[in-house]
Amino acid sequence: MQILQDKKIVLGITGGIAAYKIPELVRRLKDHGADVRVVMTEGAKAFITPLTLQAVSGNHVADSLLDSQAELAMGHIELAKWADLIIIAPATADIIARITAGMANDLLSTLCLATSAPIAIAPAMNQQMWHAKATQENINTLLQRGVHVWGPGAGEQACGDIGLGRLLEVSELVTLSCDFFAEKFLQGQHWVITAGPTREAIDPVRYISNHSSGKMGYAIANAALNAGAQVTLISGPVNITAPVGCDLIQVISAEQMHKQALTCAPQATTFVACAAVADYRVADIASEKIKKDSENMQLSLVKNHDIVADVAKLVKKPFMVGFAAETQNVEHYARGKLKRKNLDLIAANDVAKSGQGFNSDNNALTLYSAIDKIELPLANKHIIAKQLVNLINQHYLAKDTK
Ligand code: PMT
Repeated sequence: MQILQDKKIVLGITGGIAAYKIPELVRRLKDHGADVRVVMTEGAKAFITPLTLQAVSGNHVADSLLDSQAELAMGHIELAKWADLIIIAPATADIIARITAGMANDLLSTLCLATSAPIAIAPAMNQQMWHAKATQENINTLLQRGVHVWGPGAGEQACGDIGLGRLLEVSELVTLSCDFFAEKFLQGQHWVITAGPTREAIDPVRYISNHSSGKMGYAIANAALNAGAQVTLISGPVNITAPVGCDLIQVISAEQMHKQALTCAPQATTFVACAAVADYRVADIASEKIKKDSENMQLSLVKNHDIVADVAKLVKKPFMVGFAAETQNVEHYARGKLKRKNLDLIAANDVAKSGQGFNSDNNALTLYSAIDKIELPLANKHIIAKQLVNLINQHYLAKDTK
C-alpha cells in the first residue's frame, strides 16, 4: 500500500515566489496516494493560477471564504473537518503571523482555526524576515502549540540574499509528509545520539578537530524522531540546524561530550555514537595565544575518555550502536571496535572514498554485529539514517520485545 493512501491533505499556498514549486509537490503527494485539496490566498494567486493547481490536484481549488458556490460544494468547516493534515507551503511571514494571532480573515487562516487536524508549515521568506524577532517568536509559539515547522532551508534566495528562508525542496516536503503518516514504531523509546566533531583547545585561538559536519548524526536524530522516539542529540560544533523536537545539548570538547553522554545514557534505550570524537586532547592548554618564537613546536597530548565504551559499561546498558570511520581494512578494524567497545552494532564507513563520509550529503555503511553483516549502499544521509533506524528496530529492538 502507498504510504499516503487515502490520506486527505489540505495544501495551503500563500504568496511567495516559491509557490511556483507547488504543482510539483501536489503531483508527488498524489503519486504517493494522497487526496490533495488546494487552498490559495489572494497573494498566492499573484504567483500561480488556481487553474494550474486544479489541473494537477484534480480537485476544485478553494480561494475565498465568501464564495457561495464553493461553500455549497464543500464548506470551509467541512473542509477543515475533512483534512487529515493541513500543509502550508510556502508559508509566508504574513500567514505565520496571522495563524499565530488566531485570525480568520481569509479561507486559509479560518481553516487553521476551524480544524482539529495537525498543521505543518513550510516557511519561505527573505532571510532577514525569517530571523526577525517577531517571526521567531511566532514560530516558537506555533511550535509550542504543536504545529510542525518544516524548514526553512538555507542557500541563495530569489532576492539575492544568502541564508535561511528557502522553501525546502519538493522531495524533502514529500519525505516529511510520508514520515508524518509513517508508523511511530519507536514510541516510548529514548535515543541518545552523539554527532559532529569535538574541538580540543590548544590555546585561546587554536584547536584540534576533524571534518565531521554533523550531517550523519543529525539525520539519524531526525529519523528516530520521525519514528516516534524521544531524542537527545549531543552535538559538537556544527553549522546545521537540529531537527525540531529533539533535545539538543551543545558541547565543544570530548570531555564535555563524555560528561553529557554519561548523564543522559542511563535514561536511554538506544545510544548511537556517530560523533567524530578527538582521541587526544592537549595536556596543558595555553592560557595565552602561543607565539611563533621557534621553528618547531611540540604539543603533549593525552588520551580522551572513550565515550561509547564508557556508556557500554553502564549497568543498565542501552542498545549500543557505534560508528567506525576507516580508510583501510574497514571490516577488520570495525569488528575490532565492535568487540573492544562492547557494542551491539557498529556502522562502518569507508571515509577514503570520495562522495561519502565526512562532510558529504551521502554515505554508505556496512553494519556489523556479532552475527550480521548488512550493507547500506551509497545514498543521501537522510535515506541511510532512515534505513539504519528501521534495521535497528526490526533486527534488534523489536526482537527483544517479542
Ligand atoms: O558528521 P558527518 O560529516 O556527517 O560525517 C559522518 C561521520 C563520518 C563522522 C560518521 O559517519 C562516523 O563515522 N562517525 C564516527 C567517526 C569516528 O570517530 O570513528 P572512530 O572509528 O574514530 O570511533 C569509533 C567509535 O567510537 C565511534 O562511534 C565514535 O563516536 C566513538 N568514540 C571514539 C573516540 C572517543 N574518544 N569516544 C567515542 O565515543
